[in-house]
Amino acid sequence: MKKILVTGGAGFIGSAVIRQFINETDCSVVNLDKLTYAGNLQSLVSIADNPRYKFEHVDICDGGQLTRVFREHQPDAVMHLAAESHVDRSISGPADFIETNIVGTYILLEASRNYWNSLDAQRKSAFRFHHISTDEVYGSLGDSGFFTETTAYEPNSPYSASKASSDHLVRAWHHTYGFPVVTTNCSNNYGSHQFPEKLIPLVILNAVNGKPLPIYGKGDNIRDWLYVDDHASALRLVLERGKLGETYNIGGWNEKTNLEVVHSICAILDDLHPQGAPHTQLITYVADRPGHDKRYAIDANKIANDLGWKPQETFETGLRKTVEWYLANDDWVKGVTSGEYQKWMKQNYGDRKTS
Ligand code: NAD
Ligand code: DAU
Repeated sequence: MKKILVTGGAGFIGSAVIRQFINETDCSVVNLDKLTYAGNLQSLVSIADNPRYKFEHVDICDGGQLTRVFREHQPDAVMHLAAESHVDRSISGPADFIETNIVGTYILLEASRNYWNSLDAQRKSAFRFHHISTDEVYGSLGDSGFFTETTAYEPNSPYSASKASSDHLVRAWHHTYGFPVVTTNCSNNYGSHQFPEKLIPLVILNAVNGKPLPIYGKGDNIRDWLYVDDHASALRLVLERGKLGETYNIGGWNEKTNLEVVHSICAILDDLHPQGAPHTQLITYVADRPGHDKRYAIDANKIANDLGWKPQETFETGLRKTVEWYLANDDWVKGVTSGEYQKWMKQNYGDRKTS
């Protein structure tokens, strides 16, 4: 049985990874999370009482706390998902992105490397540091072509530049110190438990509430969508079988314009949650995102050919499941949007020391 330290496990993708580990394997998980606005322990209630799950309320920028966590929990691997993740927020306030995504990754790498150096030979050679990153590090595509693992880095937003920096740090720690890393770069995820600042949950909830559906620019920017549980299964496979020092791109071969995505959500809601008029009438064109990347598309052949991974959900099945989840989980939605979650977090963790 392995013990995995997951950073950012209270977030959208991290919580999906943890639910899979606890429900589908015999691994133990330590969830290390600062609980920013995007971190939500309600996403883990289904597994929170499992004896193989532990939570540590820690900031990855706090090297002393990281050292304590490694000493107390003695993990076999780290999966690093903690990050500031929203492009729009990185444009209005880049500081947190530099701090967590770059400085935090550096501090985590050093704490992990010190711990790794203390292990006996067998555990040292089995140890893995898995860095979870994004396809946005490659910049923007024109009408044709795909991002491969050898595409040059050309990050365009403060978010993608901070993630690109963290990828380079991880690469350097492998090259210089022989630190055992694998890195993955994934396309846009969607699914349950995503904070409703991102396109798909924002549009679902606005449509249900009769609010405008904001489309940046003309709505013709293209994203390549992957259901979050498919991403989680790919991450588990790369952790288990990925080659040290290698990068794997993860994507679902699901390119859609933003307008197509919004129309699909509206059609599902017209069916599941009819409100008299078609939901598309709520579509509202708004000012474009500054520096808005035109198109992302992942070539996922390497992970398919080398590790045998392929996604289970089509965009149609995954999107329907996602809409159904948001319709059925009003409590979760209220918890993250009404400020109640913030109050709850303060009550539960506000006075608790992490040491
Ligand atoms: P998210 O914003 O939903 O969750 C991020 C989590 O990290 C939250 O629980 C937050 O509390 C935690 N966190 C933030 N700063 C922290 C800090 N300093 N110390 C400890 N914890 C901290 O993000 P997500 O969408 O789940 O993304 C997870 C990772 O996957 C990120 O690294 C992101 O760059 C990457 N990624 C995301 C997508 C996507 O479509 N969402 C696609 C590819 C890659
Ligand atoms: O590609 C992977 C990346 O996908 C991840 O690394 C990021 O963490 C994740 O947030 C996501 O980034 P995007 O910027 O692509 O996601 P977002 O949901 O913010 O936007 C998707 C597209 O929809 C993008 O072209 C901008 C557009 N958009 C977004 C919002 C929030 C709108 O048109 N209206 C909106 O209100």
